[in-house]
Amino acid sequence: MTLIPFDDRDGWIWMDGEFVPWREAKVHVLTHALHYASSVFEGARMYDGEVFELTRHSQRLHRSAEILDMQVPFSVAEIDRACVETAQRMGLSDAYVRPIAWRGPEQMGVSAQATKTHVAVAVWAWPSYFDPEEKRRGIRLTHAKYRRPAPDTAPTEAKASGLYMICTLSKHAAEREGYADALMLDYRGYVAEATGANIFLVRDGAIHTPTPDCFLNGITRQTVIGLARQHGFEVIERHIHPDELPSFSEVFITGSAAEVTPVREIGEHRFTPGNISLTLMDDYSQLVRNRRKAA
Ligand SMILES: Cc1ncc(COP(=O)(O)O)c(C=O)c1O
Repeated sequence: MTLIPFDDRDGWIWMDGEFVPWREAKVHVLTHALHYASSVFEGARMYDGEVFELTRHSQRLHRSAEILDMQVPFSVAEIDRACVETAQRMGLSDAYVRPIAWRGPEQMGVSAQATKTHVAVAVWAWPSYFDPEEKRRGIRLTHAKYRRPAPDTAPTEAKASGLYMICTLSKHAAEREGYADALMLDYRGYVAEATGANIFLVRDGAIHTPTPDCFLNGITRQTVIGLARQHGFEVIERHIHPDELPSFSEVFITGSAAEVTPVREIGEHRFTPGNISLTLMDDYSQLVRNRRKAA
């Protein structure tokens, strides 16, 4: 795979209210966020020219910033507009949309009271989070070494950059062993999520999913729960112990980037993408293209 470095592309990035040529959208090396992880971000997808659940993403950016004691100096409506206009400037109608807010270089040190909060929006083409062939068959997950922290250990409700340190480490370890991703447990030892997506498990026609009390209650997760209930599938939110993994027949993960992706392995356990995973995968792809009504 040839990677085009993300700082060497054509186009425009929206930065603090203005469009900046892509290669000039830079920050100083003494940016607080770079040293202390004082940044929050979003990831949304645009389908046929419309960003799915755009306002919910912009609202979550605001909420994540608030949780990190930062104030986004643009309204939710302004962030919405920035996302749409950036995609238009990029000439993209199917794309990944990445808003980010971070503390600047005005102050350096643990205290960051004097820093300004900066905001940028970048949009790029990102067709599939997982290899499309693998995605259809179901991806392979291994077990992650790191666990999702407790809500009194880290601000787990925020989509905060700092929380991704253990995700990158877990994803790297998984990829080194030939897996697509890793299943993370939570601080209590319950099944939590993948490194960038929520998880659902099917047993006897019912869908079980972990209670999101220490990880993101994903926008896709909430959407898929609605779609499942529309279909009359039972959805049970509860703590799931990893010892239960062999009792499930289907597993899938959800996220704005990952969409609905079936899973065929978690470590030593095997699953077969079946009716429920494939129905919801299909429903979700129709919904995001406005071909189906939300619940
Ligand atoms: C760690 C993590 N969990 C869950 C999700 C799913 O969230 P959403 O469906 O809102 O994209 C994401 C993706 O944003 C994520 O990075």
